Amino acid sequence: MHIPDIKIAVDGYSSTGKSSFAKLIAKEFSFLYLDSGALYRAVTLFAIRNGLTGENGSVDAAALSASLPEINVSFRNADDGSHTYLGDECVDQDIRTIEVSSYVSPVAVIPEVREFVDRILRDYGKAGRVVMDGRDIGTTVFPDADLKIFMVADVNVRAMRRLKEMKASGSDADFDTVLENLKTRDYIDSHRETSPLRQAGDAIVLDNTNMTLEDQMVWLRDIVRSRFGD
Ligand code: DC
Repeated sequence: MHIPDIKIAVDGYSSTGKSSFAKLIAKEFSFLYLDSGALYRAVTLFAIRNGLTGENGSVDAAALSASLPEINVSFRNADDGSHTYLGDECVDQDIRTIEVSSYVSPVAVIPEVREFVDRILRDYGKAGRVVMDGRDIGTTVFPDADLKIFMVADVNVRAMRRLKEMKASGSDADFDTVLENLKTRDYIDSHRETSPLRQAGDAIVLDNTNMTLEDQMVWLRDIVRSRFGD
């Protein structure tokens, strides 16, 4: 199938499988894949390492905003996909810890951080042939995206998926902690003032509670064929 130079936005709740789906779309269509959450996580890692986070998920927003000009976050492509860098350090593993997960939503609430990340994302995505996943891609980063997908799934199923992922990378996290973290992030992400998580008016909902990745690709190919196929 010939695909024109389009932008695809994949938004939705935490652990709905956005990145696995978006990566597969990128592979199938030879698009660039951009994980916007990874940039928020890298900024959060910087904040933790520099003592800008405190007890109970608090973040020193003023100090972090003032530090943004010295934060250098980027994606670098290799044969095995895209990697997230903080300066010259690959931080793919360090940004997936439960500590980063528990501070990332409060960091992502800060308007200056959002502007900072949006600028980087728009720069990477401006040429098209890109699939980007996040919370506000279809509403804020690329409101002109050609295809917008909004992913949802049952919260218990999402917690199980995230737990499995974390266990596979050696974490000893338990189900209740992961479930609580997800619920808290859902709440903060959808209630913040700047670019809250919400479905764009022209987005198509994909509920993958009972779908495999291949089921989702079948669903996607149908839509892409009917909208953009020749
Ligand atoms: O997709 P993820 O779980 O890696 O995202 C981590 C956090 O980053 C998520 O809790 C909210 C925030 N985020 C955001 O606010 N806007 C985005 N476009 C992507 C992520």
